[in-house]
Amino acid sequence: MKIFIIALTIVFSSVQAFCQGNNYIQNYKKYDGLALTPPMGWNSWNKFACDVDEKLIKEIADAMVSSGMKAAGYTYINIDDCWHGDRDSLGFIHPDPKRFPSGMKALTDYIHSKGLKMGIYSDAGSQTCGGRPGSRGYEFQDAQCYAKWGIDYLKYDWCNTEGLKAEGAYKTITAALRKAGRPMVLSICEWGNDKPWEWGPQVGHLWRTTGDIYNCFDCIKEHGTWHANGVMKILDMQKGLRQYAGPGHWNDPDMLEVGNGMVVNEDRAHFAMWCMIAAPLIAGNDLRTMSKETLEILTNKEVLAINQDELGIQGLQYSVKDSVETWFKPLKGGDWAVTFLNRSTSAKQITFDWKAEQVLDDLNKLSLNAASTTYNMRNVWTKKDVGTTKKELKANLPAHDVLMFRLTKAGSKK
Ligand code: GAL
Repeated sequence: MKIFIIALTIVFSSVQAFCQGNNYIQNYKKYDGLALTPPMGWNSWNKFACDVDEKLIKEIADAMVSSGMKAAGYTYINIDDCWHGDRDSLGFIHPDPKRFPSGMKALTDYIHSKGLKMGIYSDAGSQTCGGRPGSRGYEFQDAQCYAKWGIDYLKYDWCNTEGLKAEGAYKTITAALRKAGRPMVLSICEWGNDKPWEWGPQVGHLWRTTGDIYNCFDCIKEHGTWHANGVMKILDMQKGLRQYAGPGHWNDPDMLEVGNGMVVNEDRAHFAMWCMIAAPLIAGNDLRTMSKETLEILTNKEVLAINQDELGIQGLQYSVKDSVETWFKPLKGGDWAVTFLNRSTSAKQITFDWKAEQVLDDLNKLSLNAASTTYNMRNVWTKKDVGTTKKELKANLPAHDVLMFRLTKAGSKK
C-alpha cells in the first residue's frame, strides 16, 4: 500500500510539474505606454541600404546629438536590413562580425550612453528582403537576443513569408517580445497588404500603410516586380485611414526622404505633410553631412509640435482646388494647424476666406468656425505672427511647396 501511495505521489507530482512547464500563456498584446506621440528617429535604409556597419551607426548617433536633432526630439537610431551574420549551432542570431565586430550589445550601450534609443530590423519570413536570416521559426530566440542587447524598437518586415498570415505572424513576434520581457516599439512593415490598420493597434505601435517611398516628389520608381512611390503618391494612399491613428498606434507612410535629393521646397512640403498626418518621423538621410536647409526642416520646433501634438489626431484633407490641397489638423487646446499644399509644377495664387469656410472633423466632432471665433495666425515655417482669420488670406504659393499656419483662438493665453 505504502509503495502504491509513493508511486501515485510521484506520478501526480510529475504530471503537475509537466503541466506547470506548459502553462505559460502567450501575451499577444503590444507593450502599452510606448509611442504615445509619433516616434521620431533615424533609419539607415533610405540612404545606406545594405551598407551598414558600427562605425556608421556610431557616427550617426554622434551627429544626432551634435546637430541638435536629439534636442528637437529625435530619439531612435534604427539599423535596417543587412546587419545580420549567421545563426549559431543553437539557432541564436549574431551580427555580421566584419561590420559589427564589437557586437550589438556594445553598440546599443554606446547609443544609450548618448541618451538615444536603439532600433533593429528583422523579417517575419525565412529571409529578410536583403537575403539575410529571417525570424520565421526563431521568433522567441531572436526576441531574447534583442532584449539581451538592450534594443528598444523593432521594425519587422514581410519578405519571404509564403503561407503566413500577417496578423498571426505579427502576433507571434509580439508574444516573443513579451516573453523576452523588454518593452520595445514594434513597427509593422507589411506594406499595408493585409489592412494592418484593422488589427495592428493591438499588436504593434505603427504599421506601414504602403510599399516603399522613393525620393521624388510625385514619381513612381519601377523595380521590375515592384515599384516605389514618390511622396505625393504615398500621401494619396493614406485616404480613409485617419480613423485608425492615435496615441500608441500610428499609420506609417514610410520613412522620410528629406535631405536625400529633392529640392528644398519639396523636402519642406514632404515634411509638412508627414507632420499634418501624424506620421512617424524617421529621418532617412546622412545626418553627418546634411545641409543647413535640411537640418532646419527636420528640426523646426513649431512644425514638429504639430506632428507631436498630444491629441494624436491625423489631419484631414479639407479641399482640393486647382492642384492646391488644403489640410487641417486639430490640436490640443482648441488650436488648429492648416497647410496649403501646391502639387502643381507652377506657382499658384491662393485665396482663402476663413469666415466663409466651415471646417469639420467629423470623426472627433471638432469644428473650426472663423465666422464666430477669430483665430490668430502664425506661420510656422517663418515663425512669424501674420494677423488673424478676420482677413481673407491671399498668398503666392511656389510650385511643390506649402504654406503652413498654426491657428490659436484670439484672446486665449498661450
Ligand atoms: C522593405 C521595407 C524597407 C526596407 C527594406 C529592407 O520591405 O519596406 O523599408 O526595410 O525592405 O530590405
